[in-house]
Amino acid sequence: MAILVTGGAGYIGTHACVELLNSSQEIVVVDNFSNSKQEALNRVRLLTGKDFRFYPADLLDRKSLTSVFSENEIDSVVHFAGLKAVGESAVVPLRYYDNNLTGTINLCEVMREFGVKKLVFSSSATVYGHTNNVPITEEVPLRANNPYGRTKQMIEEMLVDLYESDPTWSIALLRYFNPIGAHESGLIGEDPNGIPNNLMPYIAQVAVGKIRQLHIFGGDYPTKDGTGIRDYIHVTDLANGHLKALNYVRDSTGIQPFNLGTGRGYSVLEVVEAFENATKKHIPYRIVDRRPGDAAVCYANPEKALNELNWVAERNLEQMCRDTWHWQQWNPNGYEKKQLISASGLPYATDYTHIAPHLNQKGHKH
Ligand code: NAD
Ligand code: UD1
Repeated sequence: MAILVTGGAGYIGTHACVELLNSSQEIVVVDNFSNSKQEALNRVRLLTGKDFRFYPADLLDRKSLTSVFSENEIDSVVHFAGLKAVGESAVVPLRYYDNNLTGTINLCEVMREFGVKKLVFSSSATVYGHTNNVPITEEVPLRANNPYGRTKQMIEEMLVDLYESDPTWSIALLRYFNPIGAHESGLIGEDPNGIPNNLMPYIAQVAVGKIRQLHIFGGDYPTKDGTGIRDYIHVTDLANGHLKALNYVRDSTGIQPFNLGTGRGYSVLEVVEAFENATKKHIPYRIVDRRPGDAAVCYANPEKALNELNWVAERNLEQMCRDTWHWQQWNPNGYEKKQLISASGLPYATDYTHIAPHLNQKGHKH
């Protein structure tokens, strides 16, 4: 039996694929590459030494999705596929509602058709909107305040309705806080298009010399140093949360939200300092106006995930910074690289030492 991973070529999806393959699970991946590249999947194969089926399908194309389910024995789904840029979602909201909502409706309809009712869904802490209730528990009322966030909130509500109509479903709604970092190998990481919107990829591009300086959005928040506070979580910890959530949905029926965060908040200035300490790179910055829509403080109470999923984030901010830097340093242009995988889909014994000097020729640690 296989796990279907939608959006498996993306930032979090690739890290989850690595952890799933490393724990000997069979996966099938679907992605339309709207925000990712084939090379990311090549790297997953290289890192794990394992192969898997990939379909370059769009969730909006129900027929292709049906073929994926008829050609594979799928028993559960981890659903990452979605558009995720807050600013863009305000410019093209219908595209976001169509892609995220219609994509999820198609997926659930095909799942139901094939009797697959175990789902782990990528939600976001953005569903909480602005709240003064920190640390945020899952009970805080949902009040998304941008179109992207509303797609996540609406999908959560839709999935609750689905469960109530048929209690044989089992669904975990994973509300991620701020995923950063990269795989410790430096082979996979976040590869944003154009100028990054989010803090850590922006800092990384300043460090590598692609951007001159960081703009810190707001120095007058009611926080210890005036800059915004967030709960940054290492993407590998987050990926492992999906393995725990899969165990949970396999063993039960129901629908439950879970915060995936560390429970600790860091300010923008603390992140800059941690990055400089971890990498010995200087990050020039300038404090500018607040970014509209930003909250002052946002961090999780992750106790429910600990108690019910047996999951806890293990990696600290230093490791998040170091791994981000290795990925950025060795892949200054992200995944824009020549094809390194043989026609069979398995990796050549390729020399990756120029990307990741600590790896041997097969991509494994010395
Ligand atoms: P990502 O953009 O790197 O990955 C999403 C993947 O889904 C991409 O590879 C994209 O090509 C694919 N995709 C999008 N629409 C598709 C469609 N209709 N059919 C097939 N494939 C499609 O994003 P990510 O950072 O890996 O995020 C994964 C999920 O987690 C998203 O749903 C996102 O909203 C959610 N999330 C991300 C963050 C974050 O900070 N990265 C935070 C909270 C929630
Ligand atoms: C953003 C999204 C959120 C999404 C999350 C993870 C917005 C309003 N929210 O959250 O919905 O779930 O990303 O992808 O976009 N900062 C700077 N300079 C920068 C970039 C960011 O100072 O160039 C600051 C921000 O003001 C904030 C912190 O860094 O205080 C983190 O920002 P970011 O990484 O964009 O994440 P969020 O705003 O928390």
